[in-house]
Parts: sequence; C-alpha cells; structure tokens
Amino acid sequence: MNNSIQVISKYALEGLNAQSLNEAALAAKQTLESGSGLGNDFLGWLHLPSSIDEQQLQALEQTAAILRQECEYVITIGIGGSYLGAKAIIEALSDHFAAYKSGNGPKVLFAGNNIGEDYLYDLMDLVRGHKFGIIVISKSGTTTEPAIAFRLFKEMLEKQEGKEFAQRNIVAVTDARRGALRNLATQEGYATYVIPDNVGGRFSVLTPVGLLPIAVAGFDIRALVAGAVEMEKDGDEQVLNYAIARNALYNNGKKIEILANFTPRLHFLAEWWKQLYGESEGKGHKGIFPASVDFTTDLHSMGQMIQDGERTIFETVLSVGDQQHEVIIPTDEADLDGLNYIAGKNVDYVNKMAELGTRLAHVDGGVPNLLITMPAVNERYLGQLIYFFEKACGVSGYMLGVNPFDQPGVEAYKKNMFALLEKPGHEEATAAIKARL
Ligand code: PA5
Repeated sequence: MNNSIQVISKYALEGLNAQSLNEAALAAKQTLESGSGLGNDFLGWLHLPSSIDEQQLQALEQTAAILRQECEYVITIGIGGSYLGAKAIIEALSDHFAAYKSGNGPKVLFAGNNIGEDYLYDLMDLVRGHKFGIIVISKSGTTTEPAIAFRLFKEMLEKQEGKEFAQRNIVAVTDARRGALRNLATQEGYATYVIPDNVGGRFSVLTPVGLLPIAVAGFDIRALVAGAVEMEKDGDEQVLNYAIARNALYNNGKKIEILANFTPRLHFLAEWWKQLYGESEGKGHKGIFPASVDFTTDLHSMGQMIQDGERTIFETVLSVGDQQHEVIIPTDEADLDGLNYIAGKNVDYVNKMAELGTRLAHVDGGVPNLLITMPAVNERYLGQLIYFFEKACGVSGYMLGVNPFDQPGVEAYKKNMFALLEKPGHEEATAAIKARL
C-alpha cells in the first residue's frame, strides 16, 4: 500500500532471528481476528472503522456544530482512554499556538484527567463569564477524576448560563445502560453518545469518545475514519512487521521501547501510545515498558542516557514526511553564528538530518532502531496510525502471552484511595490501611 504508514526495521534486527517469530505473529493475528483469544469480548475496535456509517458521522457533526456555534470553550472531561485519543489528535492537527490566537470555533480544553486543584481553579477562572459547553466522557460512568470535574463545571455552567443553555451544551459519552453518568444524563436530558460494550477505553478513539471532541475542534472526522479504514483493509503487513520486531527485541533483552518523534505536534500521540501499549501489555510481570521522547528537545536531556546508559532499550522513531509549512533559513552576510552553510535550506531539512544522525548514533551505541514513517500529519494518516498501533498492540500482546484487553492492575490505587477517603462501603479497607500508616 503506497501513501501509508510503513515500518522499517533496517537498523533494528541485526543479529536477531526475527523470522523465527513469523509463525507466532501469524498465529497471534489469527487468534485476534477469529476472536478466540483472551479478552475476546473487547474486540469491537477491530472492525470499527469500516462499520462507522454516514448516519453516525452526520449525528456527530451536527452535535459538534451546535457546540461550535454556541460556545467559546468546550471542556472535554475524561481520563485515560476517555481523554488521550482526542487530546492526541487535536494536538497533532492544531496550530501550535492556537491557545494564543483567535480562530474559528471554540477552543477545546481538557479536564478530569488529573486531580489538580490549581488546574481546576485556573480552568474555572478562564471560562468564568464565557459561554462554554461540556463533553463528559466516561465508559464506566463512575471514574473519580472526571466525576469531580463534571460536578464542578456543571454547577458553574448552570449558574452562569442557566439550566436551559447547560442542557443544550452538555453532551455525555458513556455506556448504553449502566453507570452514574448514564443515569444523570437521562435525568437531565442531555444529548448522549454510546461507547460500545466491546470497545475498551484505550481502543475507543474512533468512537464518539474521540470523534466528537475532534469534530468540535473543527477537524475532519471523515478523513480520520477513512484513514483507519485503509489500515483495517491493507495494513496487516506493517502490523506484523512491528509486532515481530518489538517481540524479537524484547526476547533479546530490550525491555524498554522509546517512541521518539522529531515533530512537536506528536507529543500527545506518544502519550496515547504509552497508554495503549502500557495498559495492554504490562501484565503478569511481563511487558515492554513504553516510554517516549520529543526530539531534538530531549536529545539535550535524555540523549545521554539513550546513547550511553544501560543497554535495555530500543527506539522507535515516528518519522513524518512533509511539514505543513516551509521556513527557509536566511543568509546572513556577517555569518557571525556560522550558519551560512545551511542558508537557503528549509528548517525541516536540518531536522531530517538530525533524525538520521540520531538514529545512526543510537544504533552505534547499542540501541536498535525501528522506523515508522507517516507521509504527513493530517487526518488521513493519523487515522491510519491509530488503527495500525491498535492492531499491532493486539497481535503483540497475544505474542507476549497476555490478555491485551483488560487492565486489572489499575484498580489497586483506587482501592487505597477510596479507603483513605473513607468512601462508604470501604470500612474494612480503611481500617487496614490506617493500620499501615
Ligand atoms: O483504557 C481504559 O480502559 C482506561 O484507561 C479508562 O479509559 C479510564 O480509566 C477511564 O475510564 P472511564 O471511561 O470508565 O471513566
């Protein structure tokens, strides 16, 4: 498939017999596609792109149009899989300085992804006196962080703009039937969208969880979905290449994968990727630890560690073909900064040389290097990338021998937090935890 995400393992697999994993990878893919593996009740994402129909897209676009027309800000409330996908795509597609520029439509802001009191205070301060809307997203409908944020902003909006405006400009994305948010939305008469039962949070960016905020931000959800459909149909070769390479490296002692980008707008894409792979693979005391860096920025902080630290890492560079704009480095007669040797070149040319130089240096330092190329950062290629990473995650997780679709480990901190907060029903745990303090 041309014009698509490609995985290049030229500098990744030297000295490894990665081909020995071909059969295991094909078996894992077959397990995934036949729905015969662990977590098979969470495979709704597998054929999601091609199942999104015109009616769904139109409904999302209409809801987005109401929010875009009526609001200066839209606060998207959610955490984990109910946050990172939308954040990643909106950041990737936005002007880097959108926050400081006036533009068409509302600014999409995020809350409920932390419990930072000052964060919430500052956001409330920002939207006070301005018309704002809320998209509240929670599959379970009971997650503490978004629930606190929603309570605060709902109350604020109702007081500020009245119940009628709030009802029109609050949209809930949640389970079809269960959970506190579903009940609240029904009672208050909010517009709602459903997160399908068989799609887990970190695989949900192509459901209304991601599509609605992305549409509100003014981006083309049709092109995003079309890109994902392309990968669903034709992406298996790349999926297998990535799953095989990372498992071959892991089996050879490379326990940490660093996703590196040279494109500042991809910072949150890496945050989304970390959740996808971390929550899917970190089980049974196994799994590649997913980390990320933004280059060249982090070459001046983490570069030393990657070049010379413990040799347990491999690097996956997410490389972008074309930039959206061209900036040429000017000639300077005095040349006091000594930069005339690159005068007339565009900035991205320098960045590409930094990318290649970095990859070769890291390979020489004992850090195998995988390359994932995307032709440009736009809706189509981001759609491809999302689906590519999701499917490779499923295949890779099965190759590792874990259930890639559950996340039992994330409950541990919640139990302690509820015990410490003395939540009703947690009395025994409260007593036990207090005895440890
Ligand atoms: O991937 C996951 O399942 C999690 O990260 C959830 O998305 C996250 O915990 C938020 O859950 P919920 O949407 O139920 O509020």
